[in-house]
Amino acid sequence: MPEKIFIFDTTLRDGEQSPGCSMNLEEKLKMARQLERLNVDVIEAGFPISSDGDFEAVQAVARQVRRPTIAALARATRLDIERAWESIKEAHKPRIHTFIATSDIHLQHKLRKSRSEVFAQAVEAVRIARDLCEEVEFSAEDATRSDVNYLAEIFEAAIEAGASIINIPDTVGYSVPKEYGPFVNAVLSKISNRNKAVFSCHCHNDLGLAVANSLAGIENGCRQVECTINGIGERAGNASMEEIVMALRTRKDQFPYFTEVLTEEIYRSSRLLTNLTGMFVQPNKAVVGKNAFAHEAGIHQDGVLKNSLTYEIMTPQSVGVVSSTLVLGKHSGRHALHKKYQELGYELTKEELERAYFFFTKLTDQKKEIYDEDLITIVQDGMKIIPDIYRLKYVHSSGGNQELSSAVVKLEKGSQTFIESSHGHGPVDACYKAIDKITGFPGRLLDFSVNSVTKGKDALGEVFVHVKFSGRSYTGKAASLNIIDASTRAYVNAVNKAIYEQLRQQEKAAKASAAGE
Ligand code: KIV
Ligand code: ZN
Repeated sequence: MPEKIFIFDTTLRDGEQSPGCSMNLEEKLKMARQLERLNVDVIEAGFPISSDGDFEAVQAVARQVRRPTIAALARATRLDIERAWESIKEAHKPRIHTFIATSDIHLQHKLRKSRSEVFAQAVEAVRIARDLCEEVEFSAEDATRSDVNYLAEIFEAAIEAGASIINIPDTVGYSVPKEYGPFVNAVLSKISNRNKAVFSCHCHNDLGLAVANSLAGIENGCRQVECTINGIGERAGNASMEEIVMALRTRKDQFPYFTEVLTEEIYRSSRLLTNLTGMFVQPNKAVVGKNAFAHEAGIHQDGVLKNSLTYEIMTPQSVGVVSSTLVLGKHSGRHALHKKYQELGYELTKEELERAYFFFTKLTDQKKEIYDEDLITIVQDGMKIIPDIYRLKYVHSSGGNQELSSAVVKLEKGSQTFIESSHGHGPVDACYKAIDKITGFPGRLLDFSVNSVTKGKDALGEVFVHVKFSGRSYTGKAASLNIIDASTRAYVNAVNKAIYEQLRQQEKAAKASAAGE
């Protein structure tokens, strides 16, 4: 009988803590709902002690996402653990995930503690967590560079203290599969009460081996695997969920295991994450890259047409990749559009459909062929994650390679209209400076990227920006056939997020002062 592998998704914690991947509360909720649709077993929603924002996001996920287990991370201290519990106590299935480093390198240089002190702290942490929450996971940070006997002793004691999930992270991504697999095996064999816990692997990708190591971990006794969508995460990232799940599914002959992930939701999850963070996946990324199912060479195309088995080891449909088919035209109505979105897996509200239809008709005026990818971009672009505080009404920008560029921007805020002009180093910079003049809330552009949604000269362009406002960075995104329009709206989107966050903080402070805190 194949055994189940539990999928522990840490996109919202280990993934989100990597540079350029931060998400606000609404974005985390949106992603968590998609992870629920993907049917992962556990969502690690954040590290609540790290900030009030993270605490609130974990709490919102715990309250609203009911099917999977919701885990919150805590260092092995009472304060961290209590804060973690506070954030997830309303979850349908809560889990406290507590960790401490166990390698001598970390003990000597980071914690400055002896092995016995860390041992005692780990056991105490599991007890505190277990008093609060029925399900406790214990992780030994930098496990793979720890002494195997010491690690086994700590794990045995953690299980004794009430941990039912034990995680063996390759924190620095140093292991290779032929070493990680036997290491897991050796640790497990030394733990006398191992049948009382599920063992877990958590591999980082510094040598590009996170997925291979995770599979080796599974083969050697791990039944939970910690991973992220698109493999985002600290430094080179975490093990990529879609690669692990598809490796298990595609090579059942090698891996007698199964997951309960709905693989048809993989592509939508990947796209959503890119949309929320602006972190693109490389075109040749396995499973979800733009080219993952594209057959360019003539011989390959010919083979696939004759029989897809010739060059395709899994179908695009199995991961929810939509085919680049011509879908709708100028005369398609709302009904056809609605139907098409349903086929693509999007259940739109009336308002969302209206908005999508508005952009669809605008697009058909300018673009002859509308593809599935265009429709996905339209709907994701129009997602109402935060309110549009400022709206772009008009933009005109000009410039060349010789002199300063200039721009005129008109924004609307409620019933007010603002117009400003500015010069800048390039047409986009000029637009951004004009917006800064209007809002009086200048941003510093940290990153800017453009991506074409489909092929051809009339392809939709998606622009992502990372902008710093008052010391915090925000992402902004927009798509358009016109690059200046997309660039300007992406910046306005980031401005809106920053202002929205400020308003929320002010509201919170006002409530706290009214409550006499
Ligand atoms: O990489 C790591 O060791 C971690 C732990 C907190 C589980 O992310
Ligand atoms: Zn990690």
